[in-house]
Formats: sequence, structure tokens, C-alpha cells
Amino acid sequence: MFQLSYPVCLLGGLFGLLLLVSVQMAQTPASMCTPLKTLNYSLSHRQQYMKHNFPINYTIRVHSYEVFKLSNISTMRLQAEDLVLQRLWFLVNQGVLKKIIRVLPEKHPSRSYASELERRFKDAEGVFVQSHPAEVFQQELPETIQEAWDHLTEEPDRVLESRWRFATPKALLDNFCHTMHCLFSECFCSREQQQNYCSASYWRKGKKKKNEAERTAG
Ligand SMILES: *[C@@H]1O[C@H](CO)[C@@H](O)[C@H](O)[C@H]1NC(C)=O
Ligand SMILES: *[C@@H]1O[C@H](CO)[C@@H](O)[C@H](O)[C@H]1NC(C)=O
Ligand SMILES: *[C@@H]1O[C@H](CO)[C@@H](O)[C@H](O)[C@H]1NC(C)=O
Repeated sequence: MFQLSYPVCLLGGLFGLLLLVSVQMAQTPASMCTPLKTLNYSLSHRQQYMKHNFPINYTIRVHSYEVFKLSNISTMRLQAEDLVLQRLWFLVNQGVLKKIIRVLPEKHPSRSYASELERRFKDAEGVFVQSHPAEVFQQELPETIQEAWDHLTEEPDRVLESRWRFATPKALLDNFCHTMHCLFSECFCSREQQQNYCSASYWRKGKKKKNEAERTAG
């Protein structure tokens, strides 16, 4: 009897382990939520620090692949799983933050905000790397993602002129924020209602509401 139940237990245990692993792979690990919520808190001040403290229509030069929006995600989801897109999200926004910080002199009123944002972003990235097995980061990427990856990691002086784009710091951080909610939505779900953070209309709706409030106030 023992001889029979032992392998059965072992098999059951293995199955449980596999189940656990696949569940962990599919979802955002809970440990990610604390650093991401901290980032979300910082991002809620982006209007002041990334718009009001800059000259009107001030833009910075970024790589075309650093323009990473909700519409990119909906296209890329046909080719890649979310974990891959999360990795891309980290790569893109690391570059975006670096480029924003580079244009800010030491004494600029947004300098410490941007540095703190970068620090918090790195904290989140650290947790992200720790919470997945190392093999995940060595996996071969789907072709289109690999192409974006290669362009994002090439030497700046080798980037073709036609690949550069101009964007306002605020627009870049809007993309940063919206895509974060979309790709890590499990950390931002409210208990009351299911939100579709991946739809552009969700964010437009919020903006409209805010504008209306401002109009009423003014
Ligand atoms: C994220 O920040 C927004 C403010 O921009 C806030 O309304 C929302 O509740 C925050 N979400 C979480 C999960 O902390
Ligand atoms: C800023 O850009 C908007 C939209 O492109 C334009 O209508 C506006 O005149 C610009 N403002 C300044 C001060 O250049
Ligand atoms: C997102 O889409 C825009 C416009 O289609 C494109 O220029 C940009 O390279 C895309 N971003 C990524 C990360 O693929």
C-alpha cells in the first residue's frame, strides 16, 4: 500500500508544483505590486513636474521605439505574451527616464522628482527580475519584439536620423503610466469595478471628467 501511495503522492506533488509555476508565470507576482503602486503615486504628480515646470511645448528627442503606447500593446499582444511585453516596458522606460534626466540641470525644480522616479523604477525592476526564474530572461523573443529590442539597445550615435522622434516629457510619462496599468493591471484592479486600463478610452474618460471639474471650478 505504501509502495502505491508514495508515487501517487509524488506525482500529485509534482503536479501541484507545475500548477504553481504556471500560475506564477501567468500573473504578475504579488511582490511587484508594492513598488508599482509607489511608482503610480510618483506618477500622479507628473502634470506639475513634467509639464508646468517646462517651457510650453518643450520636447525631447527619443528613439521611435521609446514611444510605447497602449496601441502598441494591443498589436504586440498578438505576437508576444505579457511577460515579454513587461520586459520591453522596463527597457523602454529605462531609456525614457534617462533621456528626461539628461536635459534637467542639477538645480531644475523637476530634477529631484525625476531622479526619485528613476530610483523607484529601478526598485520595481529589481523586484521584477528577482520574482521570475533566470531562464525567463534568456528566452528567445518573438521576431518583432527582438527587432525593437535591438534598436533600443544600439549605440545612440548609430541610430538612423529617421528613427528619432520628438515628444514632450509629459506625453512620455503618460505613456509610461498608462502602459504600466495595462501590463500590470492585477496590481491596479479596484475591488468595486473591473477597469480596462488597456483601452485608450478609459484614460480619455478620466481626462474629460477632470477637465469638466476644472471648468466647473473656474
Ligand atoms: C494610482 O494613482 C492614481 C492617481 O494618479 C490614483 O487615483 C489611483 O488610485 C492609484 N492606484 C493605485 C492602485 O494606487
Ligand atoms: C503648442 O502646441 C500647440 C499644438 O501643437 C499649438 O497650438 C500652440 O500654439 C503651441 N504653443 C506655443 C506657445 O508654441
Ligand atoms: C509604437 O507605435 C509607434 C507608431 O506606430 C511606433 O513608431 C513605435 O515604434 C512603436 N513602439 C514600439 C515600442 O514598438
